[in-house]
Amino acid sequence: MASLHLSNVTKHYDDKQPVIHGVDLEIGDGEFVVFVGPSGCGKSTLLRMIAGLEQISGGQLHIGGKLANDTPPAQRGLAMVFQSYALYPHMTVFDNMAFALKLAGQKGAQLNEAVQRAAAILQIGHLLDRKPKELSGGQRQRVAIGRAIVRKPGVFLFDEPLSNLDASLRVQMRVELSRLHQDLKSTMIYVTHDQVEAMTLGQRIVVMNGGRIEQAGTPHQLYNHPANLFVAGFLGAPKMNFIKATVAQVVGSRIVVRLPDGSLFAPEVEAGDARVEDQVTLGVRPEHMGPGDTITLTVAHAEYLGDQTVVYGSMSGDASLIAVKLAPDRAPPSAGSTLGVQLLPHRSHLFNAQGAAFLHPVTNKH
Ligand SMILES: Nc1ncnc2c1ncn2[C@@H]1O[C@H](COP(=O)(O)OP(=O)(O)O)[C@@H](O)[C@H]1O
Ligand SMILES: [Mg+2]
Repeated sequence: MASLHLSNVTKHYDDKQPVIHGVDLEIGDGEFVVFVGPSGCGKSTLLRMIAGLEQISGGQLHIGGKLANDTPPAQRGLAMVFQSYALYPHMTVFDNMAFALKLAGQKGAQLNEAVQRAAAILQIGHLLDRKPKELSGGQRQRVAIGRAIVRKPGVFLFDEPLSNLDASLRVQMRVELSRLHQDLKSTMIYVTHDQVEAMTLGQRIVVMNGGRIEQAGTPHQLYNHPANLFVAGFLGAPKMNFIKATVAQVVGSRIVVRLPDGSLFAPEVEAGDARVEDQVTLGVRPEHMGPGDTITLTVAHAEYLGDQTVVYGSMSGDASLIAVKLAPDRAPPSAGSTLGVQLLPHRSHLFNAQGAAFLHPVTNKH
């Protein structure tokens, strides 16, 4: 069993302010979980505490049901892959991959077979005699992953392993990591600051900010039902539009808000404890807006991207720019022209003054 359970886990370096504030998280056996968040939010620290490379200041870490706070790294059944490959330059690919097994006393046919199997999974069998300097960046990263695979860990820990690769190779390695997970069925925890990597790799995403978990859920849940402004703004590009609004009416369980231009709009959310005159934020993603007549934008500029056109404009009463994704076959509107835009009530989000989302009427509806 390679499940993990973190209970009120905290971290402070020296006597300074805590950098991880009471994290609670359950990771199932075989699950692929991504920790994502801005630089400095504590992703690596949390991963390194799981790995045993950093002392846990408070709380409990269970691995496979056993308390592991003080278990030495080598006895946790984990293997970690870092951003820097740190291969031994004087050793061949084979020897780099065999190194940990040799240390553990393996040799002969058994050792050879373990390395060959890992190399086959990663399609680097033809590179086993080369030295690291004779490899491309992508091949080196595969060797680094191979070193982890040969040890057959119950849990793989990845800390931004693709950051040093160019964009097209990152896309390719993303696909390979997903395939690797399907093949090995191991538990994987993957740290990244890149929301696209998080969305594409994670069966579950843990969004972190300032040493806290903002929300954990499937990519679908986080994208369609973000719990707060931070998660709503972090996932998606161009990011969700935020429009300042005021609660104009509360009718039964529904809210009608007044937009900056004075118009009224009723997003499909539960009113909760909203009161008339509350300051709120309406959130609508650029792809959930289209030509229509809910609001009128004065166009600032348009970006033609081939598969879509993104138009930026502002509504009267609020100078901030709103992004709208349009089909590419429409001629982009010119700067200074007006664009009528429809807001979809059932694809709209509403956040209270503290940034917490009002619930959608039927969760998982979308
Ligand atoms: N060894 C250390 N000593 C003191 N502070 C550290 C140390 N490592 C990280 N930190 C601090 O902890 C916070 C989280 O860092 P880190 O986990 O590396 O963030 P991330 O991986 O999300 O970018 C940051 O404020 C960072 O400066
Ligand atoms: Mg980091």
